[in-house]
This record gives sequence, structure tokens and C-alpha cells, in this order.
Amino acid sequence: SLVAVDHVDLSVKGGEIFGFLGANGAGKTTTVRILCGLMMPTSGIAMVVGHDVVKEPEEVKQRIGYMPQAYGLYDDLTVEENLEFFGSVYRVPSDERRKRADEILQLVRLEEFRKQYAGQLSGGMKRRLSLAVSLIHNPELLILDEPTAGIDPPLRRIFWEYFRQLNRRGVTFFINTHYMDEAELCDRLALISYGRLVSIGSPTELKRKAIGGEQVELVTADLPTTDAILKHSELVREISASDGGIRVIVDEAASAIPRLTSLLREHGVEVLQVRQLQPSLEDVFIRLVQEGGERTRL
Ligand SMILES: Nc1ncnc2c1ncn2[C@@H]1O[C@H](COP(=O)(O)OP(=O)(O)OP(=O)(O)O)[C@@H](O)[C@H]1O
Ligand SMILES: [Mg+2]
Repeated sequence: SLVAVDHVDLSVKGGEIFGFLGANGAGKTTTVRILCGLMMPTSGIAMVVGHDVVKEPEEVKQRIGYMPQAYGLYDDLTVEENLEFFGSVYRVPSDERRKRADEILQLVRLEEFRKQYAGQLSGGMKRRLSLAVSLIHNPELLILDEPTAGIDPPLRRIFWEYFRQLNRRGVTFFINTHYMDEAELCDRLALISYGRLVSIGSPTELKRKAIGGEQVELVTADLPTTDAILKHSELVREISASDGGIRVIVDEAASAIPRLTSLLREHGVEVLQVRQLQPSLEDVFIRLVQEGGERTRL
């Protein structure tokens, strides 16, 4: 028997965009199904919008919007009938339902397809309708399981603009994603691997954690001397060669850059270029998962 989600302990703050990342099979969907009250945890508790998902799953379902990873629409209903149906399930008053349906269809660019059967839409359009349905009852928390998977890049941007807009109006987001550019847009991220939480924090915090500080790259006229000087600086935690320069890891790049530059100048080394390097989140996650794996093996 496989433990799909094991001791995942996290809390999402009201009003934030929280990203949940992990490889295929890491346990993201299982976690969100528990959070939505669709699946019961074998142990542990989850509180969502102030309610216990095990004891009061209906309360939770009424107040959240859930966009499943798997397709959950009625193929034999049209686009607008799907919205109508889900709106009635959530007991949205009928005049408001129509108004919201119009607004949402415009958002997901499906107005022209409102009379088309859901089953006849393309894959990306089905994802769009799925998002539309999750919004019909104006939920305060949106739990989206890979909402932009299979969505073309221009539309992904539109989705994210809309997420931001809703977020400014106070809607909280919990988003499973594989896209690193989307992860960068989240306020905080949690990384899960083999059902266990590996790391949690803002994108900046996770980068700092994975790298052990911040990265600075220096290009000088005399790299061997630069290496010898920087090696002995108390500001430098790690040093390595980079493409055409020297890369160091420091606590804080902003304060280290002027200090390292003047240190080199004092030693007569001409500094040609110095800049902070931003690690990609992809590298960060690979490092964090590897470190996490090593910790559990020990
Ligand atoms: N209904 C099920 N019955 C048995 N095992 C399952 C079931 N659903 C998921 N699992 C297993 O639970 C683990 C976690 O799956 P889950 O779907 O939560 O991963 P995920 O992080 O959402 O992956 P993906 O990125 O592929 O969507 C996997 O090992 C999966 O095989
Ligand atoms: Mg999944």
C-alpha cells in the first residue's frame, strides 16, 4: 500500500497565491482532493475556509472553487448549460447565474462557443470551460489542479492576469503547477516529493535556501588573483569558476557587491563586470529535491 501524501503540514494565508509543485505522482492531486473534501485522509486534519474537511465537507465545497486535473464536465451539455448546471448545484440565484456566466465566458474566450456541446470542444477549450465552472459561485478560495496544462501561451497569460485580478479582490489561490514561470508568480510555494513536503517559502526564500545564499558573478582582468583574494574574504561562502568569470556565493548580494569590488581594487585588480545571478527555479527545485532525498535516506 502506497502512502501518496505523508505528513504534509502547511498553511496557506488568506489572500495569497500559493503554488504547489512536485513531479508526476508526487501527491499534488491527492492533497487537493483532500482539501476539497472529495477524499478522506487516513489520518491528520485539514481546515479549509474555517471548516474541517472531514467533518464538514459540504461547507467547504460551497465556499471553494475546484478545477480538477481530470475532466469533470458534462459532454452532452452545451458550454452554457454546464455553467447553468454547476451554478444551480451551488445554488447561485438564476439572474446572477446568467450575469456571472456571461462575464466568465468572456474571460475564458468561449462566448462564441456557448451553444456548443462540451464534448465537441478542443482539449484547451475544455480546460477553459473547466476553469469557468469553478468560478460560477464566486468562491473565496480557488483550488486549481494544473489549470493551464494544455493551454496555449497567450491564453495562459490571460488566465494569470485574471487570477491576479481576482486575487486583488481578495480571492485566495492554491495552484498545482509544473510551470516554473507560473511558480515565479506565486507569493509562496511548497515543494512536494514522494508525498513529503520538501520545502516551503517564497520563490526568493527557496532560491536562497537551495543556493545557500545569493550568487554573484565577477569578471576581472586577472582571474587567478581574483580567485586568490576572494577565497580569503569572509563574505564569500563558496567560490567557483563560471563562464569567463568567477562565481561566488554570499549572504546578501546587494551589500557584498560594493565590498568585494573595492577589495579587489585595493589589490590592484581591475573589475570589468559584476552582477548578481538569479538561479532558475528549476535548478532550485532539483537541488531541494535532491537534498530532501538525501535527508530521508540518512
Ligand atoms: N485512485 C488511486 N488509487 C491508487 N493510487 C493512486 C490513485 N490516485 C493516485 N494514486 C497514486 O498516488 C500517488 C500520488 O498521485 P497524485 O495524483 O496525487 O500525484 P500528482 O502529484 O498529482 O501527479 P501529476 O503531476 O502527475 O498530476 C501516485 O503514486 C499515484 O500513482
Ligand atoms: Mg496531479
